[in-house]
Amino acid sequence: MEEIEKSNNPAWAIIGWTLIFSMGYAILRYHIFGPVPWKDFPFFILNKGISLSAFILLTFNFTFGPLKNLGVPVPNSWLRSRRFIGIVGFILVFIHAVMSFMLFNPANYAKFFEENGTMTLIAGLSMLTGVLAFIFLWLYNISFNSEIRKDKDLISFITSRQVLLSAMFLGGAHLIIMGYKGWLNPGGWHGGLPPISLVATTFFVVGYIINIFGRE
Ligand code: HEM
Repeated sequence: MEEIEKSNNPAWAIIGWTLIFSMGYAILRYHIFGPVPWKDFPFFILNKGISLSAFILLTFNFTFGPLKNLGVPVPNSWLRSRRFIGIVGFILVFIHAVMSFMLFNPANYAKFFEENGTMTLIAGLSMLTGVLAFIFLWLYNISFNSEIRKDKDLISFITSRQVLLSAMFLGGAHLIIMGYKGWLNPGGWHGGLPPISLVATTFFVVGYIINIFGRE
């Protein structure tokens, strides 16, 4: 019986295809069409693939319910898979945050630093929104897994429309602030492929609109 349930659970397929798409895209854009050497795959490029996977999975997690509310026939098995997809998305964001802290220096991200080694305004704002989005996701995650769950007021606050829309907005702002300059220069896109920040922002915009209209 449990085996049947497992085989009917689409979460693994959704997570697997998201990982394949995100990693494949990062490899294609930066190694195959771009100039990044393969020695940078295990950390610098992997971090990009992980952050894109996390973003897509968390967007799915927040958007399946509102999509159903709008009358789109989202299968019940997809709705049931949201919790697992959300946990995996959070773990991937956690890995992304740790890897980014280790990578974040002028040698890896020249565009984010002034000549004197301090962060640019854009980098500061992008990191601030990333950290705030991460803290929200962390609170959201623990609120379903502990004693806090019994605090109905806190749960209804964390899962309220305003708070979820604000949290999604912070995630989107993290990407838009960091990436918009590169988006405006399609001639510089490796192999004509849009930057990962733009791919993730496309998921964000679609997910955000569905949430605005479909979240109760
Ligand atoms: C402590 C929190 C965070 C820190 C320090 C952080 C740091 C960074 C850095 C340094 C980059 C540039 C990566 C690169 O271009 O190689 C980045 C990109 C990105 N981050 Fe975050 N981030 C945080 C939170 C988040 C959260 C919460 C999400 C998702 C909800 C997220 C999703 C992304 C995505 C999709 C990219 C685009 C990667 C690219 O354009 O290559 N990040 N982040």
